[in-house]
Amino acid sequence: MTEACIFDLDGVIVDTAKYHFKAWQRLADLLEIPFTEEDNEKMKGISRVASLDRLIALGEKTYSNKDKEKFCLTKNVWYLEYVSDINQSEVLPGIIDFIAQLKKKSIKIALGSASKNARKILSLVELTEAFDIIVDGNDVINSKPDPEVFLKGAEALSSSPSRTIVFEDSAKGIDAAKAGGFRTVGIGQDIHLGHADIVVEDLRQMTIEDLDKQLYI
Ligand code: BG6
Ligand code: MG
Repeated sequence: MTEACIFDLDGVIVDTAKYHFKAWQRLADLLEIPFTEEDNEKMKGISRVASLDRLIALGEKTYSNKDKEKFCLTKNVWYLEYVSDINQSEVLPGIIDFIAQLKKKSIKIALGSASKNARKILSLVELTEAFDIIVDGNDVINSKPDPEVFLKGAEALSSSPSRTIVFEDSAKGIDAAKAGGFRTVGIGQDIHLGHADIVVEDLRQMTIEDLDKQLYI
């Protein structure tokens, strides 16, 4: 039934969402902006620039474009420092097995990430080859909740959104997938992802047959 699967990267394939949080937290401290895990939850899935704008709004501050560019750069230097020596052990539970299942069934796989570091992260965890197509923050104009990243992925795989599952850990990512007409699986907590078709903690024990049964009723 399912023709293709599109995976978000940070927080779905790799446990990198915690490093984005750590880097934003560090910037928030530097700028003396109060920033909580709940605030971070709302920044998941959106672009670096959009995230910074949100952070600045939290502190009710205004900065010049030049300063904002500098802050984005600094945050990214810190983020890259945190991920510099990650390896396959940071791939999230169930992912490798689930991808193997899809390969066996010749179901195509795409990455649909807002991150401009996506290719680097995939290479660090040795998963680049697993994807038939990679669409990331360098390839889109509109960031999630706009569906562009997923629509580009589906188009490249010649799959129709209604027969394509998007796996996401962010509320904005689920919004984006739904706006594009995709089937949605939220990876994480119901409290943040309740609008997804299905919410699971992780993909351990998950089979594509189970998902097909639940998603196409
Ligand atoms: C998303 C993350 O995948 O990518 C966000 O959920 C992050 O937290 C965004 O801000 C952009 O990532 P990057 O690596 O381009 O700064
Ligand atoms: Mg994510």
